[in-house]
Amino acid sequence: MTITEFRHHKPPRLDALSREELATYFTETWELYEWLFSSIRADGAIYEKTDPLRQPLIFYLGHTAAFYVNKLRLAGLRDGALHERFDPLFAVGVDPASAGELEAQSWPTEAEVRTYRAQVREIVLEQIETVALDLPVTESDPAWALLMGLEHDRIHFETSSVLIRQYRVDAVERPDGWSYAPIDGGVRTSDPIAFEGGRAAIGKPTDDIVFGWDHEYGHLARDVAPFAVASTHVTNGAFLEFWGDDGYGREELWTAEGWAWRSSIEARAPRFWVVGDDRPSYRAMFDGLELPESWPVEVNRHEAEAFCRWKGEGWRLPSEHEFAALSADASLIDGNSAFADAYNLNITYGSPTPVGFMTGATTPSGVHDVFGNVWQWLSDEFYPLPEFKTHYLYEDFSAPFMDSEHGMLAGGAWASSGASASRFYRLWFRPNFFQHAGFRLARDA
Ligand SMILES: [Fe+2]
Repeated sequence: MTITEFRHHKPPRLDALSREELATYFTETWELYEWLFSSIRADGAIYEKTDPLRQPLIFYLGHTAAFYVNKLRLAGLRDGALHERFDPLFAVGVDPASAGELEAQSWPTEAEVRTYRAQVREIVLEQIETVALDLPVTESDPAWALLMGLEHDRIHFETSSVLIRQYRVDAVERPDGWSYAPIDGGVRTSDPIAFEGGRAAIGKPTDDIVFGWDHEYGHLARDVAPFAVASTHVTNGAFLEFWGDDGYGREELWTAEGWAWRSSIEARAPRFWVVGDDRPSYRAMFDGLELPESWPVEVNRHEAEAFCRWKGEGWRLPSEHEFAALSADASLIDGNSAFADAYNLNITYGSPTPVGFMTGATTPSGVHDVFGNVWQWLSDEFYPLPEFKTHYLYEDFSAPFMDSEHGMLAGGAWASSGASASRFYRLWFRPNFFQHAGFRLARDA
């Protein structure tokens, strides 16, 4: 396969869902995940933890499969376990505050997990043939369990890609057809763009035409004061100045929590920079590259906040409602999903692009990469919208994380696809956590 052969990234419309479309979307989602995992080549590497705060990749190979089985059972579409041991073993991911909270596990062989996956694939395809499809499909229909499994799979394509990116280079090999964006191109300057402010609203309508997760539904309008935002993400080139100015060595630039994190792992540079005695280089998904100065820098929220303080002049992260205001005139498909060909979303490239490279991703106001490329950290902590209620098939999808320990992100990344490549998607992570995520500067007008 090549990146361009995976073409069905957009979630199907709930008001026009056919079995054929569902089967195509499922098959492609499944193969995309296998394509990503085909990169893990070194003996035993799949049992290694590439991030101390997450399970090894063998867990994630089993996890997306077990999820389908467990949700089909909850929805009443299946009686009984498929595998007494694997269904629960691979059921729940982790979000520990520290590595010490993760218990050691003994894992089955990769061959056993692959056999389990093959069985699940057949079960899901059978369900797609037989499940009741009353249009529009709603969140109370059993078919929602299938859609949830599909979108969960796509979320884990992205999160697993971040884990795989943290293998040593000789443990992985770039899968056939996986292409990185050019190093050069895009725009060279990042100009401040003024917004008048006014009323801005977030939240996904309950009758929206594509699948949504519990925390997206609702409506919250707020008054946004006049503000300015940088036209591009902060690039590796811009972050190099902060790094060269001893940004990682000056406590006064960091929040107390950020400095504690920096000190605990002795962070000296962004996670995907490779720092030796010389100029930093870069770790793409499977290869080392010369540092692409024109690509957005990928950092956690502590690093983004330290950069803002170093930059001074009132620069800070934008709020979720400011993001809604600055993206209000972005071009969208169906008023919902960001358009695949216009943005670096939906694995258009297997990497970030230079900022401003995707010309269709620039708004009429001049905001480049308003969606896509890499996620954008926001200033908000993760919180529920007013009408928030959990979904019975996945009670603990978002609710346990709505606290001051998790920060929000918006906009999606090159690896985001399906329902998470949407203007409604609200992502959250701990501020010390790495994703394909960077930031855009904002400040009061
Ligand atoms: Fe999961």
